[in-house]
Amino acid sequence: METMIIIQIFLFGISKAFMLSADSCKSPPVANGYQNTRYNGLWYEVSKAQTAGGAFFEKDCVCTTIDVQPVPSATNGDSKAINSCRKITPTGNFMNATGTLSNEGPLGHWKEGFFPGAPKADYTIIYLTDNVAVEYDCSSFLGLYTNYCIHILSRTPTISSDEEDAAIKYAESLGLNTQNLPFHKTLQEGCW
Ligand SMILES: *[C@@H]1O[C@H](CO)[C@@H](O)[C@H](O)[C@H]1NC(C)=O
Repeated sequence: METMIIIQIFLFGISKAFMLSADSCKSPPVANGYQNTRYNGLWYEVSKAQTAGGAFFEKDCVCTTIDVQPVPSATNGDSKAINSCRKITPTGNFMNATGTLSNEGPLGHWKEGFFPGAPKADYTIIYLTDNVAVEYDCSSFLGLYTNYCIHILSRTPTISSDEEDAAIKYAESLGLNTQNLPFHKTLQEGCW
């Protein structure tokens, strides 16, 4: 009996490994005409699709913003992504976390890390207009566990549904949403 269970767990592990290998991180092209100067500055997250194991601090987030700031005097594109949000309600405590964006190449693709020595995620700006950006980040542990997030970002706390739909449609067209996750709106009302 025990042997059976162990064999079953083993087979489950193997099938899961094969199943998820089809679901590893994607390497999408960066946005047309991408330039760091067009991405730098403050963005409001208006919606996102995220795997359950995605960035721990983003759970319970409302009023989410990302402020992208080049590291002063860096000439290689090194930047900081200052993630800020409130816990559960617009008056909840701040939950902030600063990611470092390094190893930029091509322009618009970095490695993002939150703790020195911890595994880094691939961080790619796949879509960029004057008002809207789509950022895809993904990390994979030994090719077995893949976590990704597709963030729809806006220069203003709200966005027209046409602009949002176009951004989501483009992300879906690249096949990034390998687990067919729904896009959830990020609460921005009552925050500002
Ligand atoms: C979190 O970030 C926001 C926006 O950058 C800032 O206004 C706030 O003071 C920060 N709060 C904490 C506790 O770091």
